[in-house]
Amino acid sequence: MKFLKTNENTDRYIDNVFSVVNAAKADPEAINATAGCLYDEQGKLFTFNCVYEAEKNITPAQKAAYATSPSGNRPYLDAIMKFTLEDRVYNHRDIIASAGGTGAIFLAVKTCLNDGDTIIYPSIAWGNYKNIASENNLNVLTYDPYDLDEMFARIDEVKGKVFLIVNSPCQNPLGLSYSFEEWERIMNKINSLDKEVILLCDIAYIDYANDDPKKYFKLFNYIKDNVLVMLAVSCSKAFSYYGQRLGALIIINNDPEFIDLYTNLASRLARTTWSNLNNAGMINITSVLNEHYDDYKKELSEAKKMLKDRVELFVRQAKDCGLELYKFSDGFFVTLKMDSNEQRDTYHRRLIDNHIYTIKVNKGIRLGLCSTPLKIVDGLAEKMKGLE
Ligand SMILES: Cc1ncc(COP(=O)(O)O)c(C=O)c1O
Repeated sequence: MKFLKTNENTDRYIDNVFSVVNAAKADPEAINATAGCLYDEQGKLFTFNCVYEAEKNITPAQKAAYATSPSGNRPYLDAIMKFTLEDRVYNHRDIIASAGGTGAIFLAVKTCLNDGDTIIYPSIAWGNYKNIASENNLNVLTYDPYDLDEMFARIDEVKGKVFLIVNSPCQNPLGLSYSFEEWERIMNKINSLDKEVILLCDIAYIDYANDDPKKYFKLFNYIKDNVLVMLAVSCSKAFSYYGQRLGALIIINNDPEFIDLYTNLASRLARTTWSNLNNAGMINITSVLNEHYDDYKKELSEAKKMLKDRVELFVRQAKDCGLELYKFSDGFFVTLKMDSNEQRDTYHRRLIDNHIYTIKVNKGIRLGLCSTPLKIVDGLAEKMKGLE
């Protein structure tokens, strides 16, 4: 193709999520369960008061300024590292700022994989993994996220370096969260290999998980030398900061020299990609974490309660009326089970014709309960069952 590099991907890029989101916005009767963002009970995007109170102290000059380094402002990096790992990891580690969780995944993929290498991710997953894989000319292997043996079989299939994405807790779209025992199995498998393994934990939704979702982090203290753990952190969900494009990549490995080398080269990649990130945003999140942490935790627990009430109601009513869902633990979404993608397409169309807007995923229909107020959730399962 003229002007473009030889292997440029010229397939038309259609974002299936944004097209349904826009259709829902244009329908005055819409039940809009398309969003991947948390909305409040009044149907407005949920925001943390503490985040926007702290923002009032940011000066125009701070908003206008470049960040202090391509790898991120040091106070932001320290605050996010502490907030994420909570002193659970004492193995060698470092952190680099990124443009959201997506930017963290970008850094990990760009630095570790060549064209033609293999990436492993769940067969029902956030659609962007597929885009990232094709953009980087990667082979894809997928595993049933409910079947760790299948994950292990895929790992064994890879001849060279293993690059495995695990999106837990609150998996998008299934709401699946692995237990500590499941994490022990995953880490035992990875540690038993005699090839290089990169484990990329996509923890975008971890702050909305219940119980102790970070308990498995302690396993990162016992990794073998051939294992590199990367955590893709997103401020989008944690602070309802979607458009500010902030996140971070945390890397953990037994070799401090490798960690130093990695953060240095990832900084160069950041410098040549986004140059540097949102300075005011980094200052603001640092202030929230260092000076208003208790307020933040209180608001977060209210947001989690709001989400939990919706999910519990929907799951209960779905069970009562026989609407089949994938097994759910925590998070923003639930997913209806579909036998085939043909059945899914027909049903998705019928839902739209009845003003119910959802997102198609492999063998499923994702319902964003994060964006549907409780009064809309009430009775929704039965309505959907009636349209099957
Ligand atoms: C599973 C998953 N990972 C990562 C992200 C990245 O989000 P962001 O780039 O906005 O931080 C998302 C966003 O929807 C997601 O659903």
